[in-house]
Amino acid sequence: MSNPNLQTTKRETFSSGLAVFFATLGSAVGLGNIWKFPYLVGINGGGAFILVYLVCIVLVGMPVAISEFYIGRRTKSNPIQAFDKLKVGPLWKIIGYLGVMTSFFVMLFYSSVAGWVYLYTFKALKGDFTSIASLPMKEAGAFVTKEFDMVVGGPISPMLWQLIVVSVVSIIIFAGVKKGIEKVTKTLMPVLFVLIIVCALRALTLEGARQGIDFLFSVDFSAITPAVLLSALGLAFFKLSIGMGTMITYASYFTNDNNMPATSAKVAISDVGISMLAGLAVFPVVFTFGLEPGNGPGLLFNTIPLVFSKIPFGSTLLIAFFFLASIAATTAMTSMFAVPVSVLTESLNMRKSTAVILTGGMVFLIGIFTVHPSSLLGNVEIFGKSFFDLFDYISSNILMPIGGLLIAIFVGYFVTKDELIDELSNQGRLNMVFFLRIFRLLLRFITPILLIIIFLNSIGLIKF
Ligand code: PHE
Repeated sequence: MSNPNLQTTKRETFSSGLAVFFATLGSAVGLGNIWKFPYLVGINGGGAFILVYLVCIVLVGMPVAISEFYIGRRTKSNPIQAFDKLKVGPLWKIIGYLGVMTSFFVMLFYSSVAGWVYLYTFKALKGDFTSIASLPMKEAGAFVTKEFDMVVGGPISPMLWQLIVVSVVSIIIFAGVKKGIEKVTKTLMPVLFVLIIVCALRALTLEGARQGIDFLFSVDFSAITPAVLLSALGLAFFKLSIGMGTMITYASYFTNDNNMPATSAKVAISDVGISMLAGLAVFPVVFTFGLEPGNGPGLLFNTIPLVFSKIPFGSTLLIAFFFLASIAATTAMTSMFAVPVSVLTESLNMRKSTAVILTGGMVFLIGIFTVHPSSLLGNVEIFGKSFFDLFDYISSNILMPIGGLLIAIFVGYFVTKDELIDELSNQGRLNMVFFLRIFRLLLRFITPILLIIIFLNSIGLIKF
């Protein structure tokens, strides 16, 4: 039996810069790229939204990500102990506690959607969607919608798939940083990348490809309203997995020679690339079959099975698409799971197996309430919202912006310039003084203001 106290002294790290890149990308790439990005682009008018989103990534996403990297690697600790090591007074530990709570809340509904994705992969493998091919378009549409409500609203199977997701993630975390997170992300991220390119290339040979590309790339500035700006900012946050301790935790395993600002840029660029590829895989098909691009979250579950079953090699592509979505959901959820486990094992000296079972068990037992409204437990409501909406709302609209704001203020104002430059430049080995000046300026003056605006809007104190 291992001595749990040793775990705090001997901390695992990733084995190379490439491992750091894939693990961080594994956290960033998730249902956000495949589920949220295409539908937000769809309802917010296409290319204009993408442009605003990119600005948000640069002005808010990357500065907060780099700040979390700073805290994590500087202290090599979980998000709560990190603030002890930085010797900044107990109040800042709130960032850590909030992070644990937020990652837990996000897992509750994320595991539910991830379960649907696993289930759809399984259904695609079984050939459940092949009968659609012979149906006329309208009936095929009705079939897929009914299927979604039946499958996801079924009494038992969504919970079962959620349990499978939680178990897979638990095993990865239990296996450790190198043998679990690193191995899985290094193997699966390239697979995801290849599969998404194949899906996008296939979609681009369809009749509606031109319209899909135009929709994605044409920029109509009149579509940029304050509401669009806010949803782009929220997406940037969710996409880069920031504001909830995830990046602090992963960075605590980073290698000392990693160029962290460069890692944040590479991850942000690759993540945007994967979102664009997801858009290229989805929109040409949407236009080819005359569907509504602003179809909402159902775009993934209602549209993809429908259209892929109507094109040659569609059933293979359908499996590929849902398989890649399962990879994305799993690696992203792994990074959330790492947060409470690192705190339980290091701050409470809990054995790793106990921490993993406790976290997984709680995610599952509370998470089953986030299933579809028509399923067994899905119609329980608190404050007039389903559990799914409630946890999504609290974490995305309240906890993540507060977490991000506190991190930006902390690193911008309470960490000395020398200390920040020392860590981010790897003790002066990297020459990046100009970049770091700009970064600090953004972090002190632009990022917090934008975050305060989203937060006030999301709790209804200011309206656009
Ligand atoms: N970035 C992930 C996605 O896009 C979601 C996520 C959020 C992961 C927060 C970890 C922490 O799906």
